[in-house]
Amino acid sequence: MTQPAIHPSILNADQAHLGAELERVRNADGLHVDVMDNHFVPNQFGGPSLVQTVLAHTDLPVDAHLMITEPDRWATVYAEAGCAVVTTHLEATAAPFRLAKEIHRLGAGVGLALRPATPLTAVEPLLPEIDLLLLMTVEPGFGGQSFLEPMLAKIAAARRLVGERGQQLRIQIDGGVTERTIVRAAEAGADVFVAGSAVYRADDAAAAVATLRELAAGHAH
Ligand code: DX5
Ligand code: ZN
Repeated sequence: MTQPAIHPSILNADQAHLGAELERVRNADGLHVDVMDNHFVPNQFGGPSLVQTVLAHTDLPVDAHLMITEPDRWATVYAEAGCAVVTTHLEATAAPFRLAKEIHRLGAGVGLALRPATPLTAVEPLLPEIDLLLLMTVEPGFGGQSFLEPMLAKIAAARRLVGERGQQLRIQIDGGVTERTIVRAAEAGADVFVAGSAVYRADDAAAAVATLRELAAGHAH
């Protein structure tokens, strides 16, 4: 069993005071930076320069979540910048086997993300090629949405699949993670938790990170 990890999403941080916002979550296990192109999702956020700014102001590993079309063209930029993991959406990635090799060659981990309605079977052939499977637990595009309950069964199925393979693969969830939902998601088998509003809307963000991690650890699969 791997220790649960909490990755605050800076989408929900005060962008005018990013340095201070990163400092508020210094006890986190990693930082999650969303990139949205107003095409793959109906919202725009982030990009290479924001990721570079974040990397310059933190020692935590950064995972970039690319909610963009044509990630085959752009993902390597994030690997070269120094992200620990670069995650693209399976629905948008034209050549995921090739892209995984390119990202690995640049020294970064490879993540693949599935929208809520994308079946797990779509990613199965790619599991040996990747380091992180991101299961979206809201429709991607915005922070502050409610956790989609049907995703619990998908998380459990993913955990079974990974267990059968005996693979070192982290299962990350993103969207609607709160003190309430993290318990069942951890029980189902997720082990990396992205939390945006649950962390950044708290008065004490570091305490929120610590509480989420304790709850997940107490209910780890
Ligand atoms: C949504 C983003 C998330 C978002 C999560 O598409 O990918 O990373 O920041 O925000 P919360 O935790 O508020 O649902
Ligand atoms: Zn995200």
